[in-house]
Amino acid sequence: MYKRDLVSITDYSLDELEALWTLADDIENHPRRYKSSCNNLKLATLFYEPSTRTRLSHESAMIELGGNVIGFSDAKASSASKGETVADTMKVMSCFADIIAIRHNLEGAAMVAAENSRVPVINAGDGGHSHPTQTLTDLYTIRKNFGRLDNLRIGFCGDLKYGRTVHSLIEAMLRYENVSFVMIAPDELKLPKGLKNNIIDAGAEFVETACLEDALPELDILYMTRIQRERFSDLSVYDRLAGTYILDKEKMQKAKEKMIVMHPLPRVDEISTDVDDDPRIQFFEQVMCGKIIRRALILDLIERGSEEPIRRWEDIDAEGECTNPKCITHHERGLKPKYKRSSNGSLLCAYCDCKIKNE
Ligand code: CP
Repeated sequence: MYKRDLVSITDYSLDELEALWTLADDIENHPRRYKSSCNNLKLATLFYEPSTRTRLSHESAMIELGGNVIGFSDAKASSASKGETVADTMKVMSCFADIIAIRHNLEGAAMVAAENSRVPVINAGDGGHSHPTQTLTDLYTIRKNFGRLDNLRIGFCGDLKYGRTVHSLIEAMLRYENVSFVMIAPDELKLPKGLKNNIIDAGAEFVETACLEDALPELDILYMTRIQRERFSDLSVYDRLAGTYILDKEKMQKAKEKMIVMHPLPRVDEISTDVDDDPRIQFFEQVMCGKIIRRALILDLIERGSEEPIRRWEDIDAEGECTNPKCITHHERGLKPKYKRSSNGSLLCAYCDCKIKNE
């Protein structure tokens, strides 16, 4: 199966990302040139989890490229409700569509989708694992604001444990020079250990704090996140943590004049609406960047139809289960374990990047 997918943000090299920004800029400046680029092509959006932006911006992007859209926005309305696996669904959907965007609650579902589809697959979010098209959106927004993606200090605030947009953006920013990180979260929502190790292994500066006010004055970017109620197994913990961080006018006074505030949205109560007219607030601009970059991504993946796909696992003679209960390997039949090594040599599940038991 020759085709490229976007399962992880690292599927695109830095040079390929540069080419994507250039294409996105051209699409933004000359939309009429691209209005028929996907004539007679179909995008399928398979959304097993709720979404406003990601689904509709992919659909809107495809329509603006002259293509059509099919799909479902609720797994209950699909044959998943009768027990159909992601693997089988993808084999079926690649008979109907030329490109597929999938969002799923299980971590690693996007890799299973890519491995079983004959057409390009876009990961539109797999559980708490990753969300690479939001990362493309975020990188494109940062580049528009600062003219660069290096030499920046970025603070992530809120739900760093379950926030897949945080996980993907950290992975992306680690590839640029002199990016430092401030992780602002309560103990229960700190960044997963594996990701923290990746930052340390990459040699990037990294600070953890629970105090937003202390971190604010030093930041170029504040990336706020919602505390993700739907990912908690114990809702009393969510109730205790909800409302931990609220960015308001008073706190914004502590920030640099040129700092920007980003948020993948939706917001709940973590950013007061009284700051929406502050020019440093960029989250609605992010949404517009998201539509433009997704137009570029769809075009790019369709044009790469004859490329060798990316191999996401290594031939490692190992045994053992993934330790992540939310990994798709524990929920869907017929999936063989696949392994890879982390930068420090630990054995990881290739689907969800979590550690393997007894390793
Ligand atoms: N940013 C984001 O993923 O939003 P949706 O959940 O609305 O798609």
